Amino acid sequence: MLRLDKYIADTGIASRKDVKAAAKRGAVTVNGVPVKDVSERIDENTARVVYCGQAVNWRKYVYVMLNKPAGYISSTEESPKTVMKLLPEEYSKMECFPCGRLDIDTVGLLIITNDGPLAHKLLSPRHHAEKTYYYRCSPDIGEAEAARLCEGVDIGDYVTKTSRVELLAGGEGYITLTEGKFHQIKRMFEAVGSGITYLKRVEFGTVTLDSSLSEGEWRELTAEELERLKKAAE
Ligand code: URA
Repeated sequence: MLRLDKYIADTGIASRKDVKAAAKRGAVTVNGVPVKDVSERIDENTARVVYCGQAVNWRKYVYVMLNKPAGYISSTEESPKTVMKLLPEEYSKMECFPCGRLDIDTVGLLIITNDGPLAHKLLSPRHHAEKTYYYRCSPDIGEAEAARLCEGVDIGDYVTKTSRVELLAGGEGYITLTEGKFHQIKRMFEAVGSGITYLKRVEFGTVTLDSSLSEGEWRELTAEELERLKKAAE
């Protein structure tokens, strides 16, 4: 059971103060009945709440897939160029945050959620959630360098765990990791004498970036994608 003002404010559509004022005017209904006392507790799983004519869609957790463009930082800090600025304000009000970080120049799949426990599991090294990146590098690497990347390389302060590499022609390919150290892929390629020129995350914990999303576009995860993400965190 949740207080009515909290229930509405949690969705980000209005502040608790606005809800109180609207309720006084009779503009807040629960199951079709106007409720004036916003401290009333309602069943968040069954109540049908309408605020100023708008049905309120309360959810404990939300899960967004963003195709992150270059130039944005994966943070919730106050800055005009955080990935949160690419989503409607409601998501920030619902205390969403990026699940892990992509470098400012890395593009592609970023999951944004307010489900702290799930994010924690997905990022924990114990759960080995896989992340796959499409890369372009220069100079190109061959089978020998790819084998070294797969076995694990010394990136200065750390020896990476095993990974998978799929080589394509012309300095392109895919690399799949189960960890996410700072600048990890860039440092791995440097360790084998190459350099990353383009990096795009295409998969996270078996959820694939929706190819219909252009850079900067987002959508919520489908129920099926969410189920797969939860499995990846088990
Ligand atoms: N590895 C990197 O070097 N950068 C990223 O953004 C992600 C993985």
